[in-house]
Amino acid sequence: DRILKVAQPKEDPRVIAKTYLSEKGLPKDIALTFEDVTILDFKSDVPSRSSITDTRSRLARDIFLNTPIVSANMDTVTEARMSIALARLGGLGFIHQFLPIERRVEEVKRVKRADSGIIENPATIHPEATIGEVKKLMAEMQISGLPVLDSATKKLVGIISSRDVRFEAINDKRVAEVMTHLPLITAPPGTTLEQARIIFKKNKIEKLPLVDGEDKIVGLITAKDILKIAQFPQALRDQKGHLMVGATVGIGKNFIAEAKELARAGADVILIDTARGFSTRLEDAVKSLRESLDHTPIVAGNVDTPDGALMLIEAGADAIKVGIGPGAVCKTREGPGVGIPQITAIAECTAIAQKYGIPIIADGGIRGGAHFCKALAAGASSVMIGWMLAGTEETPGEPFYEDGEKWKIYRGSASLEFQLSRMDRDELERVRAPEGVPRRVHYKGEVKLVVDELMSYLRSSMSYVGSWTLEEYIQKTKFRRQTTSGHEEGKPV
Ligand code: XMP
Repeated sequence: DRILKVAQPKEDPRVIAKTYLSEKGLPKDIALTFEDVTILDFKSDVPSRSSITDTRSRLARDIFLNTPIVSANMDTVTEARMSIALARLGGLGFIHQFLPIERRVEEVKRVKRADSGIIENPATIHPEATIGEVKKLMAEMQISGLPVLDSATKKLVGIISSRDVRFEAINDKRVAEVMTHLPLITAPPGTTLEQARIIFKKNKIEKLPLVDGEDKIVGLITAKDILKIAQFPQALRDQKGHLMVGATVGIGKNFIAEAKELARAGADVILIDTARGFSTRLEDAVKSLRESLDHTPIVAGNVDTPDGALMLIEAGADAIKVGIGPGAVCKTREGPGVGIPQITAIAECTAIAQKYGIPIIADGGIRGGAHFCKALAAGASSVMIGWMLAGTEETPGEPFYEDGEKWKIYRGSASLEFQLSRMDRDELERVRAPEGVPRRVHYKGEVKLVVDELMSYLRSSMSYVGSWTLEEYIQKTKFRRQTTSGHEEGKPV
């Protein structure tokens, strides 16, 4: 469908952008950002913000977020913990690219293992193994039960759980001595999570091995995972019930092999990320990535003009990340002096992308509810956030106390400090003039609090505009330009 659309006769992207800008109530000749505009309210039949339940929005291809928030692919924002927390809330994390590929693969796998649904290749043990080995494996993989397979036939002969070993002081005792032996409650391949839930309830068990006609194990369902699925109804899950996650590659020499490995590990979407997205290098990289990755959607960025967005769409990107310099720890506007103010950048890129059915991710500059709502109202289907998520419990890095308060570090990916730490790890040969800065940010507790606040403001904004769905809000919302004093008037005294 996308390819057919790309093959249509070409219109000038800048002409398309101008038309869209005037439809949105934005000026054509001057670039504006969040504070320069306000959202127009329309006659609304939405009784209250709590009546709004549909905030589904497209991330890329057939991936739809329930919460239009993705976390920034930065070393102080997104690894597995953030990705797990966000996916449970209906958003998605992009594991950052500044980890060796083995670590990135491991982070992706950790997300995929988190709320497992059906575990297809469960870790197993054999009857002659020791309790010490069981304890070690359980701790390493953070799991609480292991099916026991006969060493020769590989048939299921028992199951051992953390309860069996917890108080076992003699570590060289054999698994066969403490495991639960056959007959076990098992289920055939193809058992659904709902069927498993009924089996758990009836038999008061915690683990259900899926076993084929020859007593070979083909999967495992755990009661804990089924409970998590009920606990997070908004969660973003793949077809097997695992949480979804994105992973990032740069345009270094091994990016294709890396992207393939990440996709193989289970990454649902690959982000190819570079500061200067409107470049032949990224164009070529997206083309070759498109050929190498069979099905996995590709997000590419960053750009901030309709021509840049069009280039990436034609190269094969499934979503475009927009934003040059609006970020809280960015210096691109101050250093090289480049970057379009974010509302105009989002709107102009949306104008061209929507002709091709490609979603836009607005990246950077979000400091609160109004910015979040305006980024979507300008046309973005989702919003990438660094600053507002920074400092939450789920970000990488240790919190620390200073000046009597608790903080975490948030730093630009092009900051001097981060470049120096990459040099230490032999990832960079020399430092460039920094285009980012490091900051300490207040420790904020769970990321859920930040997401809930933003989503509450979004639902309210949707109710002012009279949109029952986020899709409708993104399409129909219009802006009016405001003066600095107009903006000041809107602030509480
Ligand atoms: P916020 O405002 O949410 O923005 O913190 C996050 C985005 O900022 C970008 N980013 C940078 N931009 N120099 C830049 O010019 C940097 O060092 C830098 N580090 C991150 C990035 O797009 C991120 O998603």
